[in-house]
Amino acid sequence: MSERLGIVLAGGAGTRLHPATLATSKQLLPVYDKPMVYYPLTTLMLAGIRRILLISTPVDLPGFRRLLGDGRGWGIEITYAEQPKPDGIAQSLVIAERFLEGRPSALILGDNLFHGEGLSRRLQAASVASGPGATVFAYTVSDPERYGVLEIGADGRPTAIIEKPTAPRSDLAVTGLYFYDSDAPRRARTLKPSARGELEITDLNRTYLADGTLKVETLRRGNAWLDTGTQDSLLDASNFIAAVERRQGLKIGCPEEVAWRQGWIDDAALARLAEPLRKSGYGEYLLRLVGRR
Ligand code: TTP
Repeated sequence: MSERLGIVLAGGAGTRLHPATLATSKQLLPVYDKPMVYYPLTTLMLAGIRRILLISTPVDLPGFRRLLGDGRGWGIEITYAEQPKPDGIAQSLVIAERFLEGRPSALILGDNLFHGEGLSRRLQAASVASGPGATVFAYTVSDPERYGVLEIGADGRPTAIIEKPTAPRSDLAVTGLYFYDSDAPRRARTLKPSARGELEITDLNRTYLADGTLKVETLRRGNAWLDTGTQDSLLDASNFIAAVERRQGLKIGCPEEVAWRQGWIDDAALARLAEPLRKSGYGEYLLRLVGRR
């Protein structure tokens, strides 16, 4: 099977965070001790994905390039593409078509945080799965009306996805992480903009549902799925990360550490990355890892 490539979608207007996002991208704002985009990026890395396309707005892309560069220091390869306007999440597959060159993909939203026991293993299993179809990850939420909601039949298979239902028939939300076969860009091109003028990811997922090739992986309560689109959810995410990191003395969403644990960079490379970051404590953390693997 051909290698699965990653897409981080980090555009959008971030209007719900104004004025914090008037002069910068939401996904460059910190979640506790690191930029938000580190979290989805490390989720892809934990899935074993090393070639990643980051999509953002023309004005914000330079900031991402400055932060992430070409990824080589982390043993990965990051390239960049513009989304001129926030015309919908599914548009990312159209933008990524040339990058993907017919390969399967994993798309993650730049403001989605995943954390939990056994998650890497499940992501890796989903990532190496070949054959036609798409996999979405579902999570139980208290406010399903804000999300794409999955309905599951008696046989455990998905029967419907309803976008922001007023009367949700389940509390299972579709999260911002999607694994697609090589056909996704073609399917995304056939979508028509919705009433709000966007190419909807729910519509793309529905094409797989209609074909009977949509798989659902449910993340149970031992996992955290946080999004960071509003002031309160951003603060909640920072507090969550801070609480777990302080308690364990281990960091969540640290790309240098993930690269090193994956064996993509060695001790010497990790120490070199750590050195310029010592003053914030982040570098000290990386240095403590050296020699411990
Ligand atoms: P949203 O939270 O739906 O949109 P937003 O980030 O523009 O925020 P707001 O609603 O406050 O204006 O987007 C979810 C994620 O997807 C977020 O990381 C931005 C990204 N996104 C794009 O990059 N392009 C798009 O066209 C859309 C709709 C979202």
